[in-house]
Amino acid sequence: MLAIKGGERVRVEPFPSWPVWGREEEEALLAALRSGVWGRGGQLTQRLGEVFASYIGSRFGVPCMNGTTALKVALRASGVGPGDKVITTPYTFVATSSVIVELGAVPIYVDIVEGGVNIDLSLVAERVDGDVKAILPVHVGGHPVDIDVINSISREHCVSVIEDAAEAHGSEWRGRRVGSSSTAGCFSFQSSKVVTSGEGGLITTNDEAVASLCSSLIDCGRTPDKDWYENDILGYNYRMSEFQAAILLEQMKRLDSQIERRQQNFTLLSKLCEELEGFSVIKPPPGASRTCHYLVMLRVEAELFRGVPKRRIVEALRAEGIPASAGWPVPLYRYPPLARYLEHKGVRSDPDAFPNTEAAAATHIFIHHRVLLGGYKEVEDVFKALRKVEKNRDEL
Ligand SMILES: Cc1ncc(COP(=O)(O)O)c(C=O)c1O
Repeated sequence: MLAIKGGERVRVEPFPSWPVWGREEEEALLAALRSGVWGRGGQLTQRLGEVFASYIGSRFGVPCMNGTTALKVALRASGVGPGDKVITTPYTFVATSSVIVELGAVPIYVDIVEGGVNIDLSLVAERVDGDVKAILPVHVGGHPVDIDVINSISREHCVSVIEDAAEAHGSEWRGRRVGSSSTAGCFSFQSSKVVTSGEGGLITTNDEAVASLCSSLIDCGRTPDKDWYENDILGYNYRMSEFQAAILLEQMKRLDSQIERRQQNFTLLSKLCEELEGFSVIKPPPGASRTCHYLVMLRVEAELFRGVPKRRIVEALRAEGIPASAGWPVPLYRYPPLARYLEHKGVRSDPDAFPNTEAAAATHIFIHHRVLLGGYKEVEDVFKALRKVEKNRDEL
C-alpha cells in the first residue's frame, strides 16, 4: 500500500542534507569576522570573483547580492532598457522574467524543445527584430543550452546573450563551461543551489567594459576614477558581504567532487529507471559534456496515470520519503503578474504556441540534487519509490 494511504514508507531515514559544510567554512567565517572588514572593499569578495571566473573560464567575475540582481545588472550593462525586447524561455523560475520587467523591457517567449527543458534555439532567430536587445536562455536544472548555436545567433543578429546559469555551476557544453563565452553568465548562490552561501550571486564576462559597468551598478554607480559621491550613473547597493564570500570560497573547493558524485548517481538512477513506464528521467542534451545536476527532472507519463493530477503523484512520492516537487507548473506567460504586464504591453502569448512548455509544466517533477549526494542505497530508494507509486497508481 502507498504510504500516502497509510502503507510503509520506502525511505525512512533522511537523504543527505544540504548544504554541506565543515571546519573549513567555520574557520573561514571566523577569520572574516576577526578581520573586521565585513562589507565593501574586502579581499574575500574580490578573491571570489577571481576564483569563480577562473573556474568558469571567463576573464572577469563580479560577485553580487543574488542571482536575480546578477541578471538585472547584466541585462542593464548590456544595454537593455525601457521598451526593449528580450527573447527568453517561459519555462523557468520567475526571476528570469521579473528582471526584464523591472528594467521596463518586454519578455518575448519562445517554446522549449520537445522532451527537454531548455529553450528551442531553432525558434529564436526568427523572433529577432530591431527591438530585441538580448537573448536570455536558462540552463534549466543544470542541463546546458547549446552555447555554440546561441552565440552564433548573437553574432549574426548583433544581440547580447545573458545566460541564466543560476542552476548550472560547472555544467559544460562540448567542453566549455556555461557562462564562459557569451556576453555574461549569471549565477545564484541561494540556499538550494549547488554552490551556496544562503544567498548570493555572481556575473561572469569576458568583456572588460561589461565587467566595469556591472561592478559600478552593484556599487551605487561608483567608479574608481570618481569621488565617493560623484557618480555618473544610478546604481544599486547589490554588494555581496565578506561572510558570503568566505563561505563560497570554501564551497567552491567541494564543487568538483560533488558534481562527479551526482553525475555517477544520475547515470545509475537513469539506468534503474529504464524499466519504468510511468516515469522517465529527462537526460541532458547530447552536447552536454558535464552536468552539475542541480535537479533530477522526471516526466510523468500521463497516459499511464490516467488523469491523476501531477500534484497528487508528487504528494505520493513525498509520502514515500522522496523530496519531490511539482517543478514549475505555470509557464511564465500564464503567471498572473507577467500575463497582466504582457497584456498591458500588447504582447500576445497564446498557450497553443507553446505545446512543449505546456506539456512540461503539466508533467515534470523535480527532485533536489541532494538525493544524488549519497550512495547506491539513496539512488535505489528514489527508484523504488517511483516504481511503487507507478505500480500502485490505482490507489491515487
Ligand atoms: C533559473 C533561476 N533563475 C534565477 C534565479 C534567482 O536566483 P536568486 O534566488 O539567487 O535571486 C533562480 C534561483 O532562485 C533560478 O533557479
